[in-house]
Amino acid sequence: MILLGAVSATPSSAATPAQPENTGVKVEFISPNHSLIRINSDDKYLLLPIEESQDDAKIEIIVNGKLEKVVNARLAKNKVDYMVPLDLSGYDNKGLVLAVETRQGRSTTRDIQNDACWKALELTNEFESTNTEKFRPEFHHTPLWGWMNDPNGMFYKDGVWHLYYQWNPYGSKWQNLSWGHSTSTDLVNWKHETSAALEPDALGMIFSGSSVVDKNNTAGFGEDAVIALYTAAAATQQQSLAWSTDDGTTLNPYSGNPVITLDSEARDPNMFWHEPTQHWVLLLAHALEHEMLILTSPDLKEWTLQSSFGKGLGAQDGVWECPDLLKVKVDGSDKEKWVLICNLNPGGVFGGSATQYFVGDFDGKTFTPDTDAEGKVPTKWMDFGKDHYATVSFSNAPDGRNTVIGWMSNWQYAPEVPTMQFRSANTLPREVGLFEGADGQLYASSTPSPEVETMRGSVFKRIGGMSAGTKAKSVAIPDVCEIVLTLKAGKAAGNVNLTLENNAGERVVMTYDPTTKTLSFDRTNSGITDFSQDFPAVTVAPTFNEGKESVELRIFVDRSSIEVFEKDGRFAMTNLVFPNEPYSRLTVNTDKGSAEIKNLTIYDIKKN
Ligand code: FRU
Repeated sequence: MILLGAVSATPSSAATPAQPENTGVKVEFISPNHSLIRINSDDKYLLLPIEESQDDAKIEIIVNGKLEKVVNARLAKNKVDYMVPLDLSGYDNKGLVLAVETRQGRSTTRDIQNDACWKALELTNEFESTNTEKFRPEFHHTPLWGWMNDPNGMFYKDGVWHLYYQWNPYGSKWQNLSWGHSTSTDLVNWKHETSAALEPDALGMIFSGSSVVDKNNTAGFGEDAVIALYTAAAATQQQSLAWSTDDGTTLNPYSGNPVITLDSEARDPNMFWHEPTQHWVLLLAHALEHEMLILTSPDLKEWTLQSSFGKGLGAQDGVWECPDLLKVKVDGSDKEKWVLICNLNPGGVFGGSATQYFVGDFDGKTFTPDTDAEGKVPTKWMDFGKDHYATVSFSNAPDGRNTVIGWMSNWQYAPEVPTMQFRSANTLPREVGLFEGADGQLYASSTPSPEVETMRGSVFKRIGGMSAGTKAKSVAIPDVCEIVLTLKAGKAAGNVNLTLENNAGERVVMTYDPTTKTLSFDRTNSGITDFSQDFPAVTVAPTFNEGKESVELRIFVDRSSIEVFEKDGRFAMTNLVFPNEPYSRLTVNTDKGSAEIKNLTIYDIKKN
């Protein structure tokens, strides 16, 4: 029997209470989960009201009956957390319709009319992106708004460092993966493009990848064209190419995409020119197989699989992602070796995401790892914190530099960290080197790039020498700073604690153990830690200072991150912290004996 009554539901036009205040936008309610937003205005942006705890709504942008673009956004149901801009320029706004499909269970069309988003929809010509977050770092790269994960596609050209990144412009959770784009002439001050350089298309979302400067026009897009390869991620993952003849500002997807298809999950293509063999080399993460594929090409379009590396080697308890392969000079010698970077998630050194690397040789087609005294391939970590992932290098960097940047978070809790306007920052830029450890093996060093020193402001405090004993001594520090010091302690000192603390009783305790020659970092009482059970943690780094009584440290404190480096980058340790108020002093004490702190200098950071 057909129930006619069910068909004659209240017409949607009765839904006046939910209409936006702006007369250029009108909402029609079609069914319990379908609505239409009609735009009749020349304004540049439609601001979408977001509530993070909601599911994504699918928004189809339809111009004169043609589907132009699809965006997923967590449209507000109960309250508006923040607004994100949908750029309408370039469309004929008079015939613009947004077809919205929400996913929450609703039984009647009337239910949806009460959602908080409709009334709050706003047309505007400006989107305000001034910082509203107390946890936004001051001297680390962050997106102006929205979610960010991996830095990717980075290159240097004509004095400018280009940093692309995995970006969601429509909310601060992982979604709509696009390439955001920032540029810098000094690696520390970044200028942000407000629209994405690459956006999802019919082949899928734009996952991580790399870019090169095609100096000899091998790909046919012009001499010095910038060529990017990225993963087009839909039901499958394929590799696509984009080209640019305006120094990376506009990346044009290639008409022959995808250029690499495989029958298994592979992503994050990372390529470079191999001079001796005169071809392009590409590393591709064969994620679920826990190996890296190595391909070569004469023209960046036709790729041939040459070898694979890594099966059964190193840390294997997670997917292998974001590879890189760097030629690195060994400190104190003329020798050059290759460092294969392999990001892994989960299964990192302190749980979740981390960057491991292998040292070895590369002949243009095959990577052969070095072995230890027992003939095994050792597992090595680039950073001994919890928040250092997706580390890759800038291609075409000047003077043969191996300059890398990592994502300063961990997939264990990245979507939950207590910020909303933006989510996630990148690490300071670092130079990768190689040094020989006491065991005769080669290890990668990570030193803050020289440009980082240019942000040192005035000296806030300098103390030539101070003894540390069981009675704690404190020195005031500014909210945001670099702390440089030499810590000298023999075994008799017991543990030496360097504590950053605030008046709310929150602290980070860094403990040097002169017996094991390790530095640990305890953030269990560092401030807000309860957003994830994986966040309160202690991380430990070997200081690689065998045979020495002292270790020289550089500590960078920036609102919600602390990076600790051995002066020559023999270890790096990156950890997020969310103190309710900034740490205001550095306290030093030992467990039992005495230690010395020498050349303590606390620098303000120059603000721009
Ligand atoms: C690493 C990663 C990559 C992928 C990207 C998607 O964090 O999972 O493998 O390309 O993020 O955003």
